Amino acid sequence: MQGRKILFGVTGGIAAFKAAQWVRSLVKEEARVTVVMTRAATRFVSELSFAALSGRPVYVEIFSDDPRQVMSHITLAAEADALLIAPATAHTIARLAHGLADDLLTTTVLAAAGKPVVVCPAMNSGMFTHPATQDNLRRLRELGYVVVEPDSGALACGAEGPGRLPEWDVVRETLLSCFAPDDLQNQHILVTAGPTREPIDPARYLSNRSSGKMGYALARTARRRGAQVSLVSGPVALEPPPGVELFRVNTAREMHEQVMRLREQASIIIKAAAVADFRPARSETRKIKKSSGPQAIDLVANVDILAELGRKRRPGQILVGFAAESHDHESEGARKLHDKNLDLIVVNDICGRETGFAADTNQVTLIDKSGRVELPLLSKEQTAERIWDHVVSLLNE
Ligand code: PMT
Repeated sequence: MQGRKILFGVTGGIAAFKAAQWVRSLVKEEARVTVVMTRAATRFVSELSFAALSGRPVYVEIFSDDPRQVMSHITLAAEADALLIAPATAHTIARLAHGLADDLLTTTVLAAAGKPVVVCPAMNSGMFTHPATQDNLRRLRELGYVVVEPDSGALACGAEGPGRLPEWDVVRETLLSCFAPDDLQNQHILVTAGPTREPIDPARYLSNRSSGKMGYALARTARRRGAQVSLVSGPVALEPPPGVELFRVNTAREMHEQVMRLREQASIIIKAAAVADFRPARSETRKIKKSSGPQAIDLVANVDILAELGRKRRPGQILVGFAAESHDHESEGARKLHDKNLDLIVVNDICGRETGFAADTNQVTLIDKSGRVELPLLSKEQTAERIWDHVVSLLNE
């Protein structure tokens, strides 16, 4: 969001107070937010609140005595990279669907023709499901507006049903996908993420330090770029990325089963999960007592899921692995690329504090058949974007 110029339209619904929180989130991410309110919106939340949160003037009136603001709908539209209207009332949706321009917000939206406009309806569920509103929303989609479906649940008016503003993460992703290339559209991508847990007894397991951040960043950014994404995830403490189909697993065997079930339909598979190479030969059904003294745990090897994918891959399917290394990074990466029959391997160091397990950043080297590219230290989302850039170049080859 950094540096993005967002024109934030607020209309007159009780959910306007949530919009205030969203403005704050955007500003925190260093977006430049300009708020335009309908008059009705100012009855719910004051202009002053939005001015304080955005750090910028708030616009309401279409006519102004100030000569600098006579054409504000034109200048506001020209400045914006994208428009977000939240909450969007039934009335404003109807006005937009019919191209009405009777206040500053609707004139600005018309003047911003060609720019992305994200509309978040929020209202009583009867108003939302009314055929007139549904017709207007259909018309908005036909006109190229991006409509975010409201959530269902308890509404401020006491009713239950669709009409609640969705979670900010969903809207944020929708907004970000307006800025992202859609070069992964028509791709079905299978991502694995997180650790696996191999049970010793009902209380204990063998696992590793993977947080899932790298895999979730890949899933999130692929969705943003238009892909259909299936995410097979070990146990992690992360929220599922919006729009991504999530399959939760625990053990390597469960991950193997799920990945094999999904592999056929995937055009790209990327394995960021840290799968346990071994599991206890026996998983006790009763907790091992301390009094039974120190024990040796016999281990057996888990199946190498990636290697099996490499053997079974269908023509044209792109297969990407990760290599978590503490030494001999590049030679180990190159060996895994060859042995597992991959198109690309992403090598990362697991000993640094800013790379590998659990960190928010990573520094990776991409190795494929034609050579290697070393990326700088980046956030895991930025790293994921660079990995997708590379995958897209492989797709185009
Ligand atoms: O989750 P984070 O905290 O964000 O950390 C990210 C990460 C360090 C886990 C990630 O960037 C990473 O390196 N993932 C791969 C970890 C790993 O298992 O590396 P490996 O070198 O042991 O395995 C090589 C490849 O084979 C990996 O793609 C792995 O998913 C796959 N593999 C390994 C063993 C196994 N039994 N089955 C597999 O499919």
